[in-house]
Amino acid sequence: MPSENITPRVNDLLLENRDNRRRNGNALSTKTITYSISILVVILIMAIPIAYTLSEIVMYAYRNNETASKYIGIIINSINVRALHAPKKAEDVENSLNEDSFTTNTNPESDYLSHHYQPPSAKCNKRIVGYYTDWEPRKISAKQLQKLTHLIFTNVPMNSSGHVFFENLAQRRRFLEINRKAQLMNVKVMFSIGGHKNAEHYSTVVADSTKRSVFIDSIVSFIKSNNASGVDLFWEWPNISEMNDFITTIKELRKKLAALTKAQPKGTRYLLSIIVPSSPSDLEYYLRMDGLLHYVDFLNVLTYGYYAPWSGVNGKFVGPNAPLYGGNRENVDETMQYLICKTRTPSKLNMALSFYGRYWENVNDNVPDEMFKEADLINGKAQGMFVAWKNLAGRGWDKSEALWHEETQIPYIWNSEERKFFVFENERSLQAKMDYAADHNIGGVYIWALGADDNNDTLLNVVSSADLCEGGSGNTLISLCG
Ligand SMILES: *[C@@H]1O[C@H](CO)[C@@H](O)[C@H](O)[C@H]1NC(C)=O
Ligand SMILES: *[C@@H]1O[C@H](CO)[C@@H](O)[C@H](O)[C@H]1NC(C)=O
Ligand SMILES: *[C@@H]1O[C@H](CO)[C@@H](O)[C@H](O)[C@H]1NC(C)=O
Ligand SMILES: *[C@@H]1O[C@H](CO)[C@@H](O)[C@H](O)[C@H]1NC(C)=O
Ligand SMILES: *[C@@H]1O[C@H](CO)[C@@H](O)[C@H](O)[C@H]1NC(C)=O
Repeated sequence: MPSENITPRVNDLLLENRDNRRRNGNALSTKTITYSISILVVILIMAIPIAYTLSEIVMYAYRNNETASKYIGIIINSINVRALHAPKKAEDVENSLNEDSFTTNTNPESDYLSHHYQPPSAKCNKRIVGYYTDWEPRKISAKQLQKLTHLIFTNVPMNSSGHVFFENLAQRRRFLEINRKAQLMNVKVMFSIGGHKNAEHYSTVVADSTKRSVFIDSIVSFIKSNNASGVDLFWEWPNISEMNDFITTIKELRKKLAALTKAQPKGTRYLLSIIVPSSPSDLEYYLRMDGLLHYVDFLNVLTYGYYAPWSGVNGKFVGPNAPLYGGNRENVDETMQYLICKTRTPSKLNMALSFYGRYWENVNDNVPDEMFKEADLINGKAQGMFVAWKNLAGRGWDKSEALWHEETQIPYIWNSEERKFFVFENERSLQAKMDYAADHNIGGVYIWALGADDNNDTLLNVVSSADLCEGGSGNTLISLCG
């Protein structure tokens, strides 16, 4: 037999082993097992502090050394999402719901899986969009997520060659953590590029066809590797001469996203949104861009910042951040009416809701209207600040003292002794805005920003519980367009 000739020693060894095992019986195998387990335990016990120390060293380098950070960042960004976050089990999500001290129900798991907690506006595909600013210390909770249809994570940077990337490991972790929870609750998570940090690169990137392709490909691969639902282009603002390049970018990006959709088994549509200003004279340039609304899923209309303590001479005019009606400048109603009638596509509009207030100092009380006052400028600048809703009391503003301005539908506090005037949004003013959005069949609202709410989600509750479907759905034009 050839096999015997070739492998006699192996066969012998195998037989010998078997015989040994037989002879020594179970005693030896028990001993072996005990021995192996002990070694394993020792290894495990030693591995934990070693792994911890190593990861601390790596994280220290990541945070404190630019060179190390770059290389670690590349490694982090190339690790597949699935390897980092295996699909989460339902009980884990239930635990995280419990962590958020979920009190209103007894069986969160089955309830949220049947989308019981989606906001009523979701019934007719209207949107409750929350911007999550990753510099806020507060983590997003499951209780907040269930009150949204979309979350936009801000801000993901880009560089001057058009590459889009996470700023650091912490940012990516946060994004993935939110996305993982959100997907189980049917909330779509997008990421926003630009904003106050990085919008300066848009101008050069969109103008150069090579950089533009890098930008678009980079967005697509970012979506794929982070399992995102889409992207929000947060460019405040392209000027008139940059508009054409911007629309070209949007069109090319939509083409690539459509190809990506085709490649998916489920054919999920990837979302694309942009931020647009509130003034009709600026909006006109966006609407001139042929087919803009065909390429984007929605426009986030920045319907606040109508009055603010700016540094220029305009900063002296005191008024609401977001007056629904009234005033001597534009207001939310004017912006939205303009867009609804001009586009005849209210379903693609998101009206902004600000969870911030603003105050002016050195305010004069010599104007007849209680709301629209004037402030003295110091060295040509208005003095004043933003205050997040959650910080009102901490900054000395007692919201129970607020008066209501009927015309603008805005609460305010006038401290005539200190000459400080404070305007903000509260439950009542946000309810008025939600009623307006419903009455005008507007496709959705966006919140700037979730982190400004208090820990009881007081403002988000008002927004989320309102039913935008009450005013209809689709593009039925409720408001009168001449
Ligand atoms: C940063 O790390 C690199 C190695 O990754 C090292 O060569 C360099 O000296 C470090 N720089 C500082 C400032 O610690
Ligand atoms: C932008 O990022 C990419 C990828 O990290 C890099 O290759 C490129 O050199 C960067 N460009 C600039 C101008 O920093
Ligand atoms: C994310 O990944 C999961 C599981 O792989 C998949 O079912 C889901 O559709 C993905 N979502 C997006 C937005 O790509
Ligand atoms: C638009 O912005 C670009 C880049 O900042 C600038 O070069 C150009 O002159 C601007 N065009 C107009 C019309 O303001
Ligand atoms: C949150 O709600 C609790 C219970 O109603 C209340 O005691 C607490 O003051 C609220 N906190 C805030 C920040 O509104």
